Amino acid sequence: NQSDGATGENEIIAGTAPGFPPFEMKEGGDLVGFDIDHLEAVVDETDYELTGWKEFEFGSLIQSLNSGEIDVIAAAMTINDERKEKLAFTDPYYSANQSVLVQTGGDFEPSSLDDLAGRDLGAQSGTTGESIIEDEVDDANYRSFENYVYAVQELERGTLEAIVIDQPVAETFAANRDVEIAFTFETGEKYGLGVRQDDDGLREALNEGIAAVEESGEYEEITQEWFGE
Ligand code: ARG
Repeated sequence: NQSDGATGENEIIAGTAPGFPPFEMKEGGDLVGFDIDHLEAVVDETDYELTGWKEFEFGSLIQSLNSGEIDVIAAAMTINDERKEKLAFTDPYYSANQSVLVQTGGDFEPSSLDDLAGRDLGAQSGTTGESIIEDEVDDANYRSFENYVYAVQELERGTLEAIVIDQPVAETFAANRDVEIAFTFETGEKYGLGVRQDDDGLREALNEGIAAVEESGEYEEITQEWFGE
């Protein structure tokens, strides 16, 4: 593209936080999911080359981006003002709300955030689900987890009463684990790819890639593959 053309100049490394199916997860040791296929398709539309993926806890992704360990975050990361102080987002590529997961067939059947007051709740560290528990639930006995998979295990075991988590991921856990969605509430979150604040060239290229992948029908194919019918 517009840069000086040095070899390797346009090579980028992506970072993600697996354990968030179907967006990013490990299957037989491989990193797979919607975000993996989507970012690869998006970068294919640009003059950049994606040379690899690195895995982090969700809560350390932004720091790893700003230290230069990675160049782009693809981790179902919700675009919000607090994060925009530390990184830049591309245009949105996915919309989601939040759900509350409980143990399948358990006694606790909440139907609103008010019902979560005073309960044993979990979420992944650094997520919007965590912020909702901290900001909107009274007297929660809150435990933060490095990974939502661990929180789901505690819920199955009965050592947690509920988890707040993005709805598409809640549905995936509900389909595969001993947990169910108690209720879903609207947050209107939009996921974006994250880049460093001064990386305008990359951000603009990714925006063009996002649009091209939608127009070509590839977005629909990737959605079908990971969300099916
Ligand atoms: N969308 C939520 C957020 O941005 C949760 C994202 C968690 N992503 C992950 N790969 N674990 O806070």
